[in-house]
Amino acid sequence: MRLVLIGPRGSGKTTTGVLLAEALGYRFFDTDVMVEKAEGMDIPAIFAERGVSAFRSAENAAIRALPVDGAVVATGGGAVLSGKNVQFLRAGSLTVFLDADDAVLAARTEGSTRPPLTGFSHAEEVAAVRKARLPLYRGAADFCIDTGGLSHADVVSRIQAC
Ligand code: S3P
Repeated sequence: MRLVLIGPRGSGKTTTGVLLAEALGYRFFDTDVMVEKAEGMDIPAIFAERGVSAFRSAENAAIRALPVDGAVVATGGGAVLSGKNVQFLRAGSLTVFLDADDAVLAARTEGSTRPPLTGFSHAEEVAAVRKARLPLYRGAADFCIDTGGLSHADVVSRIQAC
């Protein structure tokens, strides 16, 4: 069994994933960290020096390398952009979409070092990217949790109840 967390930046995939893995005794994987290790540089540097398509290729490779059992996986917010990635992520998994409204996500990610994805202001980018990806997250998910107003522990309990 594998638990895969999908959702936008600031939805809590990594923090929740670490706690969930501890609670279940599963191994934790973060595809962003796998990409950074494979590329030997952090995400802003990958975007700046190699470009977004190199990041996406490395992300695709990380997703294909994930174990299918006994794992909790935190994905990057754009992992669902590829239908093939969604197929790989869903295989043998419970896929949980962690969401929150635009204002909550913008507040949580204010000042983040993640590279921008659009030329918009931070709040506009959060809203535009979430709107564009919502059908992809919904289509890829077995469950959706609105994390707004919930603690990480609350989110973990809700996933365990799924
Ligand atoms: C991205 C989200 C980031 C990271 C990269 C691209 C995106 O991950 O994969 O900066 O396209 O939304 P987090 O969602 O973990 O911040």
